[in-house]
Amino acid sequence: MEEDRGRLLRFFKSLSEETVMLRFLRPIRFFEPEVERILDKNRTPVSVIASKEGLVIGSGEVYRIKGDEGELAVVVHDNYRRRGLGTLMMYMLFTEARKKGFTKIHAYTHETNIPMKRLAQKFRGKLIGMIEEDMYDFLFSVEEAIEAGTRVLREKGIVVKPVAEALNKHSL
Ligand SMILES: CC(C)(COP(=O)(O)OP(=O)(O)OC[C@H]1O[C@@H](n2cnc3c(N)ncnc32)[C@H](O)[C@@H]1OP(=O)(O)O)[C@@H](O)C(=O)NCCC(=O)NCCS
Repeated sequence: MEEDRGRLLRFFKSLSEETVMLRFLRPIRFFEPEVERILDKNRTPVSVIASKEGLVIGSGEVYRIKGDEGELAVVVHDNYRRRGLGTLMMYMLFTEARKKGFTKIHAYTHETNIPMKRLAQKFRGKLIGMIEEDMYDFLFSVEEAIEAGTRVLREKGIVVKPVAEALNKHSL
């Protein structure tokens, strides 16, 4: 836990200003409260981290809005973009969210955010309105997103399996 706190903090501090704006939708100077929020399971029921050689290179969360409805946020470090990590993390967020009982998930996305609009399209997010004047509100059905994501990952040759199942296969 203490280790995760430090690693996440270092990750967020390493992001460019532009990336911080796209991920948090506002400028942020001190990331400590954000990290505490992410590590608090009551406030952030779903959290996934991608790491490489001990460093966090991507982070994704689902926050609860109300009942079975959530809001997702995802960010991949600028140096690791366009390799499919965002797609994989979105898929993991939806599968973990389903386990926690979420059925609908929003993603608030700046209108200029091409990669996130592409991800919304891939996971069948529907544009249901605008938040303020320049922010899209995409709504995902968790079931549909998982179905679409499974197909997308298969096309990319990525197979996602529970760890136990994958280990079993290797020991045969
Ligand atoms: C959104 C984000 C997480 C995507 O991460 P990523 O690892 O680059 O995602 P992927 O590699 O899986 O790419 C997703 C799709 O977007 C496309 N894409 C990514 N960057 C792109 C760009 N700059 N221009 C056009 N398309 C782009 C990819 O080609 C891919 O589509 P494809 O599979 O049809 O080729 C990343 O850009 C990011 O961290 N942005 C800043 C934070 C943010 O905007 N978060 C979302 C708001 S919560």
